[in-house]
Amino acid sequence: MEKRCGKLVVFEGIDGTGKSTQVRLLREYLEAQGIEIVTDYEPTRGEWGMRVRAAAASGKRLPVEVEVDCLLRDRREHVEQLITPALERGCWVLLDRYYPSMLAYQGATGINPAELRRLNENFAPQPDTAFWLDVPVEVALERIHGRGGSNDAFEQKSFLESCRHIYAAFEAPWWHRIDATADVHSIHARIRERVRDLIDGIN
Ligand code: TYD
Repeated sequence: MEKRCGKLVVFEGIDGTGKSTQVRLLREYLEAQGIEIVTDYEPTRGEWGMRVRAAAASGKRLPVEVEVDCLLRDRREHVEQLITPALERGCWVLLDRYYPSMLAYQGATGINPAELRRLNENFAPQPDTAFWLDVPVEVALERIHGRGGSNDAFEQKSFLESCRHIYAAFEAPWWHRIDATADVHSIHARIRERVRDLIDGIN
């Protein structure tokens, strides 16, 4: 069995919910406590992740079975090469997206989320805590367009509604919904409260 002493903290949500900002703020906070941090994201920039990214950016997604295959390969490499070694060294790993994204996005494309969960949990360590940054789809889309983002193939309204429903139905002891319509600093404060429990558990 893996002997992990670091913590795995995951940020999830549809695009435009502010995940990357919250990853950065939490990283700064934890580093100030003297905790060693690795931050990363999925899909990675590796071979398999890039196949999925390139197709979506061109506006035309791969067939969903191919997406699942590529994204599982990408995640397996990520777990083996970065996530597990970092946790075993005692680092905290902060991830912008992880396998709940697959349940949401490939689930919204018609693959059974429970089956996707099983495929992932066969090899991917479960998070110590995951924050689902939740905003209504209209708000998320306004934010994406406000920052000049493109409407890529993962960013259609009805599709994002389905993703949000799957996130809402997800259940795990480590899964926490955060109302991400609040301002950046109060969202960060809520996240800190939760993370304090993990830090206190170590000390
Ligand atoms: P995203 O976080 O939007 O990356 P960036 O901000 O760099 O464009 O991730 C790209 C897309 O990948 C996102 O729309 C969701 C999708 N995705 C899946 O469909 N399945 C997965 O398992 C993961 C991790 C991401």
